[in-house]
Amino acid sequence: MSKKYHIVTYGCQMNVHESEKMAGIFHRMGYEETNKKEEADIILFNTCCIRENAENHAFGNIGALKKLKKQKPELIIAVGGCMTQEKGKPEILKQKFPFIDVIFGTLNLEELEALIKRKQSQKKRVIEVREKEGEIVEFPDAYRTSYPNAWVNIMYGCNNFCSYCIVPYVRGRERSRKAENIVAEVEKLVKEGYREITLLGQNVNSYGNDGNTDGVNFAKLLDMVASVEGDFRVRFMTSHPKDFNEEVVKVMQKHRKICRLVHLPVQSGSNSVLKEMNRRYTREKYLSEVKMLRSYFPEAELTTDIIVGFPAETEEDYLQTEALVKEVDFASAFTFVYSKRQGTKAAEMQNQIPEEIQKDRIQRLVELVNSQTRKKSEKYLGKEVEVLCEDFDEKKGYYLGRDEFGRMGYFKSESDLIGKFVTLKITNANGISLYGEIISVR
Ligand code: 5AD
Ligand code: SF4
Repeated sequence: MSKKYHIVTYGCQMNVHESEKMAGIFHRMGYEETNKKEEADIILFNTCCIRENAENHAFGNIGALKKLKKQKPELIIAVGGCMTQEKGKPEILKQKFPFIDVIFGTLNLEELEALIKRKQSQKKRVIEVREKEGEIVEFPDAYRTSYPNAWVNIMYGCNNFCSYCIVPYVRGRERSRKAENIVAEVEKLVKEGYREITLLGQNVNSYGNDGNTDGVNFAKLLDMVASVEGDFRVRFMTSHPKDFNEEVVKVMQKHRKICRLVHLPVQSGSNSVLKEMNRRYTREKYLSEVKMLRSYFPEAELTTDIIVGFPAETEEDYLQTEALVKEVDFASAFTFVYSKRQGTKAAEMQNQIPEEIQKDRIQRLVELVNSQTRKKSEKYLGKEVEVLCEDFDEKKGYYLGRDEFGRMGYFKSESDLIGKFVTLKITNANGISLYGEIISVR
């Protein structure tokens, strides 16, 4: 019987895709996937540290393994991901959880096989976290779990140092992958039948600024990817408002394959907060980009990230965020309470906002965002919408997929339509989900 691995993933799409790379390494080593921890020979936690609650989550779940490890001493417990790249964290993990066998970082993911093997041949645990980013390593055999979508990294790291954010400290400086490697990966994925390609980077608009791409910038790369032959759609994230530009929108106009949705995190609607966040754009610049995008495609949608309760944020500042949310009318928004991250500039700022005020603001903001999303839903009623079928919801008994704007549509079907583009006529649109009947499939 072959040995089994189980991976627990926290955090963003970048981490989801890195777990696929780790899974690829395990498959190469002859392991198989299991969704039951009790059956696993290796349990790996791919951690996140963007906010405190992400860390607490991981700590809780790692701690819960103590008993299992006692019953099964040969079980290997490995911890990787962003948390291990934080200063001092490997030592804390080591002390708190003596039963962890392997600790490794995001910057030495490719060493995972060697580290596991080293642990298997010695009693002592293995702790190896690389501090400086090295050359880009390609992972041609990622074990993908998100069909019909495929994640494709275009770059790693971030140079922006937004004052609240820990990412630049744990992911290192920006490194762009070669355009030819990206395009070759997309061609292969499309041939294999993937029908949605999502290009990933912390700040996709600065692709190539590091001089690693022989002059190819993000607009050109997007053009190259969308020119790959085949019936698939293209998404990209994350765009930074200081760098998002018309050249990219022109490429979106050239290719209908590119979804007319831009994830453009605004973080705050107040210029003074944006300044303290070191975002390097103003509310006015943000709104002018939204206008520019919609001048090309009136139907274009935006999604965003917003932080409330940043140090010194006043009620007036918060209300400017609300006003901006109303003005832009986002398709959806990820809303966060500011979380203090050690080592960042904002952690040292005066006037940290009390928790009650943060809670009050996040509640009001979530309510506003939800009411906007619901209102948008109503407009779908009676319309035709094309979704890419991605799953079957066992509980509901419906297939589901997303349209180009990320809106979820549910429908019934006798045959398995996962991986097909399905045009629906929307018959019910309450809340955030749409329900429809099939018009056509391709
Ligand atoms: N506290 C709260 N939210 C944060 N984000 C990043 N750092 C923090 C923090 N310290 C949010 C930002 C970013 C998203 C990925 O996470 O909104 O866009
Ligand atoms: Fe963090 Fe800002 Fe970089 Fe995004 S752009 S990862 S928020 S530092």
